[in-house]
Amino acid sequence: MAVKIAIANQKGGVGKTTTTLCLADAMKYCGFSVLIVDMDPQCNTTSEFISDTTDIPTIYDVFNDKMDIKECIITSERGSIVPGDKDLPEIDSKINSRMDRYMILKKKLSGVDDDYDFILFDTPPTLGTWMINAITAADGCICPILADKYAIDGLGALLKTIRDAKENTNPDLKVYGVLLNNYNQTKALHKEIWSTLPKIGKQLDFPVFKKPIRTCQEISKAQAVGKSLFETAPSSNAAVDYAEVLDELLKKIKRKGR
Ligand SMILES: Nc1ncnc2c1ncn2[C@@H]1O[C@H](COP(=O)(O)OP(=O)(O)OP(=O)(O)O)[C@@H](O)[C@H]1O
Ligand SMILES: [Mg+2]
Repeated sequence: MAVKIAIANQKGGVGKTTTTLCLADAMKYCGFSVLIVDMDPQCNTTSEFISDTTDIPTIYDVFNDKMDIKECIITSERGSIVPGDKDLPEIDSKINSRMDRYMILKKKLSGVDDDYDFILFDTPPTLGTWMINAITAADGCICPILADKYAIDGLGALLKTIRDAKENTNPDLKVYGVLLNNYNQTKALHKEIWSTLPKIGKQLDFPVFKKPIRTCQEISKAQAVGKSLFETAPSSNAAVDYAEVLDELLKKIKRKGR
């Protein structure tokens, strides 16, 4: 059965898509099979896999009950993905009256659960239907944050949404960790936030990944050419950091590398 992970934070631009892609690439580099499900109507992850999304099956067709999730998987050199869809919000009003509106992704995934080691969900920068579907279908979340002064305020709202999901739709949901991203140790504010994060984690009851992801220009270069960072810059800061995050994650979920 796949370990399912939602990469979630309702704040924009914190590194959800980057973490989805780089963690998936680290997993594949270690020999794990990975499926990404793009739950973000911005479709940034999808654009890394497919340049022309006209007439392809997407997550829209899954939520619209038109197709099985298996039929929507696209596999390329980059890996396997259920493509996102900019029209996904159209379905919101259609599923809004359903009692199981937050359980749809979880139910649909049962068809592919045994086909992968990991399933990663990239989520949009909102606390709405698509993020709740992802955290309801997930075993756990990874929450990227930036070292800015509003990061902790934003985390409060995110943790409340996670607590609500635990109460209502997914009692076993875990927070694997808050992941500080785009960290630059030459900046005083970054250093201060990094040093106080574990204490705030204890107060608010969330774990923090032991290493931050450092600022790394190689990330946007890899994204610009739609390639894995582990292919284009395997010894870059971020590749090293994501490999360490994977290591820590594997220990948390008690899974051995391949
Ligand atoms: N560690 C890093 N070093 C340098 N650049 C980074 C790093 N992490 C992310 N970026 C860059 O920051 C930008 C925002 O990252 P990303 O798109 O992953 O955020 P996001 O949370 O998915 O955004 P959104 O909320 O819009 O979906 C991207 O241009 C990405 O290349
Ligand atoms: Mg994104």
